[in-house]
Amino acid sequence: MLWLKAFHVISMVTWFAGLFYLPRLFVYHADTADEAGLVRFETMERRLFKLMTIGAAATVAFGIALLFAVPAYLHMGWLHAKLGCVALLIAYHVKCGTLAGDFARRCNRHNSRWYRAFNEIPSVLLIAIVVLVIVKPF
Ligand code: HEM
Repeated sequence: MLWLKAFHVISMVTWFAGLFYLPRLFVYHADTADEAGLVRFETMERRLFKLMTIGAAATVAFGIALLFAVPAYLHMGWLHAKLGCVALLIAYHVKCGTLAGDFARRCNRHNSRWYRAFNEIPSVLLIAIVVLVIVKPF
């Protein structure tokens, strides 16, 4: 149980490193026009997205393993709320992949201000999930 929790948190940190950094790359990528710069951002974004997808899959896998270890969690309100936040986080992750694909095809449709605002979303979800899982308010 404690080992599962440790690896759950380690993979969550890996995932969040990407969720925070990839949209930050988009902010600077949106303002880039030179060919060398574009190619560098495209490569960084492709590799980072792969790595954070591994982090996401491992977080979910260890989370599910924790539920098998302690099925009683399934009846708790905080877990249901947390899973709602996780669903939003996965939707955000998929959107990041779509945006990276748009950049790779050279058809980005947003400016750097839009990406700055988009970049705030994972912080809100991180705060919500950590409060739910540690404080367990309901
Ligand atoms: C399908 C996805 C997930 C499932 C099923 C899941 C499930 C769980 C369960 C059952 C626990 C044990 C709670 C306890 O012992 O009190 C846990 C702990 C934890 N989860 Fe998740 N989780 C998921 C995704 C996430 C995500 C995306 C985050 C990141 C924001 C996260 C952050 C944490 C943290 C920080 C703990 C540690 C709590 C402690 O130290 O006791 N989980 N998770």
